[in-house]
Amino acid sequence: MATTRRHFLETTAAVPLAAAAAQEKKVSANDHIQFATIGVGGMGSEDTRSARAQDGVKLVAVCDLYDGRLTRAKEVWGKDISTTRDYRELLQRKDIDAVVIATPDHWHARIASDAMEAGKDVYLEKPMVQKIPDGQKLTQVEKRTGRILQVGSQRVSSIVYQKAKELLEAGAIGELNLVEAWWDRNSAIGAWEYSIPPDASPETVDWDRFLGNAPKHPFDANRFFRWRCYRDYGTGVAGDLFVHLFSGLHFVTGAIGPTRVYSTGGLRFWNDGRDVPDVLLGVYDYPAHGKLPAFNLALRVNFVNGGSENSGFRFVGSEGTLAIGGGVTVSKVPRETEPGYTIGTFAEAAQKEFLREYNRKYPHSEPAADAIRPQSEERYNPPRGYSDHLDHHRNFFHAVRTRKPVVENTVFGLRAAGPALLSNMSHFDERIYDWDPETMRIKS
Ligand SMILES: NC(=O)c1ccc[n+]([C@@H]2O[C@H](COP(=O)([O-])OP(=O)(O)OC[C@H]3O[C@@H](n4cnc5c(N)ncnc54)[C@H](O)[C@@H]3O)[C@@H](O)[C@H]2O)c1
Repeated sequence: MATTRRHFLETTAAVPLAAAAAQEKKVSANDHIQFATIGVGGMGSEDTRSARAQDGVKLVAVCDLYDGRLTRAKEVWGKDISTTRDYRELLQRKDIDAVVIATPDHWHARIASDAMEAGKDVYLEKPMVQKIPDGQKLTQVEKRTGRILQVGSQRVSSIVYQKAKELLEAGAIGELNLVEAWWDRNSAIGAWEYSIPPDASPETVDWDRFLGNAPKHPFDANRFFRWRCYRDYGTGVAGDLFVHLFSGLHFVTGAIGPTRVYSTGGLRFWNDGRDVPDVLLGVYDYPAHGKLPAFNLALRVNFVNGGSENSGFRFVGSEGTLAIGGGVTVSKVPRETEPGYTIGTFAEAAQKEFLREYNRKYPHSEPAADAIRPQSEERYNPPRGYSDHLDHHRNFFHAVRTRKPVVENTVFGLRAAGPALLSNMSHFDERIYDWDPETMRIKS
């Protein structure tokens, strides 16, 4: 059976798209895709659940560096799955078609590159890379190997973001001039202080393998289980959360990235040994692109927000605003049709003359029609329980079957990760960075 499935996957890789789509319909019930998850912590487990929920998709193996998570994987997904600490063992297996990579950020590029070279399709968690030059390399490997790589910022597959995109393109808020987006939290777990298991030790954790190319450091359970707090392994709040906001923004607007990046922030509250800020602000210049006008972007993450977790977008246009939260809301308050006046400080004669001229230009009866300008609000809500994460995995496995390209490929992934990583650089280097979104390179 594995041979049939493998044969199907390999033959579809070589046929034109239309033919591949037709062929997809002919897949027999036995043709399934076998995948493995590399990194089965919080997100790897979520990804595995969403992947397993897809038709014709089977989990056969997992890889992790903490034994407890390998044990847990068997408890949850069955004793039949194989487990390992070494992801290369999985890449050598002929019966594995695709891998989900949900390791800490410093391992993303290396494992994704090795996986594509080994002929696997890849679902790679965001941010695509920890360092910008690795992004360009990954793009080359994707191109050369012809593998599917989808980055795991799931809002790119969301029907909510799709609706926002359609509304924006249809001119629902006129011409875009500003976008504000934020991700605020106010809890220890929200600020990445994840639980450390009681059996964490150099015996149960493969510490040397975890470090990889990161600087040498003695075993530290905190660094292993709370890796986001350290620049050696993570990418700060910008790589963790700004990147989702860039992905959502680029999907909705069709923008490919900013030309100027400035970011500043600080460590204001979670002084637990971390070396990254817990409050970060970013401002960005987006140039005109296709039909999209130039606009500005303001991003914020605040892990000490004095309230509860919330995240959203506000697109501001010449005719209204479009907000994304759980759904999409378009609000409009028409502009006043008269300019009005501010003449109280003028001499009386000047006021009279001004009013004569004003009333001649804007003759109106009292009360001004403007006083009852209509306000409108339209809301679009997704069905209860809707999961963009399931849709994102559906899109990935659809691409694996049909060989049709995914939206969130390595170029899309780098165009989101690049400005997010530059935000960190801007904050730490205390300077503005110029970015070329076309070539995805730092200009100065
Ligand atoms: N798409 C989303 O909404 C979303 C949400 C959360 C996290 N993420 C991303 O998912 C990734 C994982 O985050 P997390 O919160 O699950 O972290 P986590 O610490 O819970 O899990 C990471 C796991 O990777 C394992 N690991 C580390 N190095 C490895 C290696 N070389 N080979 C195999 N396994 C290795 C660790 O043992 C750990 O179990 C990150 O890149 C993060 O940015 C995405």
